[in-house]
Amino acid sequence: MKRFAIMGSGGDAPGMNAAVKKFVDLALMRGIRPFLIQDGLEGLIDGRIREANHADVAGILHRGGCVIGSSRSKRFYDKRWRTVAYEQLQARGIEGLVVLGGDGSFRAMERFHEEFGVSFVGIPTTIDNDIYGTEYCLGVDTALNTVREALDRIYDTASTFGRAFVVEVMGRECGYLAAISALGSGAEICLIPEVDFDYDVAEARLRAQIAAGRRYVLAVVAEGTKQTGSLARWLEKTFSLETRVTVLGHVQRGGAPSSRDRLAGFEFAVYALTRLEEGEAAHVCVYRDGGYDFLPIKEVVSNRYTLDLTHLSMLNFLD
Ligand code: F6P
Repeated sequence: MKRFAIMGSGGDAPGMNAAVKKFVDLALMRGIRPFLIQDGLEGLIDGRIREANHADVAGILHRGGCVIGSSRSKRFYDKRWRTVAYEQLQARGIEGLVVLGGDGSFRAMERFHEEFGVSFVGIPTTIDNDIYGTEYCLGVDTALNTVREALDRIYDTASTFGRAFVVEVMGRECGYLAAISALGSGAEICLIPEVDFDYDVAEARLRAQIAAGRRYVLAVVAEGTKQTGSLARWLEKTFSLETRVTVLGHVQRGGAPSSRDRLAGFEFAVYALTRLEEGEAAHVCVYRDGGYDFLPIKEVVSNRYTLDLTHLSMLNFLD
């Protein structure tokens, strides 16, 4: 009987539990022995690996986070510890891994595969949506809904009080969460790392709007721009608007996964497990053009994601 394991690695995202559950349930159905690696690469090094059955993954679907934990492992950068990790897999006869992670985790797995030939399939998992080759990463829909709800609430108080609000959202160097959230909430301003923000153009537009009766301003800023504070000062100084800053922070990472993320977790897991069964793999399962596909890990980690130009063009305050 084949033995495959699953683990989370890097920042958690809603929907991981759906993937873990489907991986275990489907593996058992197909006569494969499924293993769970606790706490990502750290747990792999320390041998926190256990064989799973249906009971281990019952009642986890609706929960955010990841029941098998995750980590960002510094030790895994060191070949000595990667060797220990390999030995942990060998000792249990585990032939393949499914890794729920982001760019950094996939880079680590590429190295691991090159050195030890460990077969793996990556499932793009991050609220940042910043992985090359896939239009969708697990957890993004839930995070977008969390941000949308927060922005709707801030809109209520901003419009009532006639204030400007600068809301900082996560995303690392990627502006996806900010851009899509700004579109969906009708924000007047959006700052993302991928596009230079033209303060003069924004000033002229806002002045005209304020002259026509606008009483409040909603600005969505991607954390990667590092301009949250300066934008707030600019709004206050330029338009004499009382301005407040809200940093949404890690609330964006948690919460019950949306229906889309539960389904995506299932689908990614089915494709990943099937790919492992087919033989040696060093691939990432990607979602694009309405379906699932695989890209070699090398291609994924050596290219940079780009934002959809249609989305950017809809953000007409960026030009
Ligand atoms: O990559 C996911 C993410 O939530 C980013 O959006 C954010 O910059 C980062 O992780 C935060 O990392 P940590 O959980 O280590 O604070």
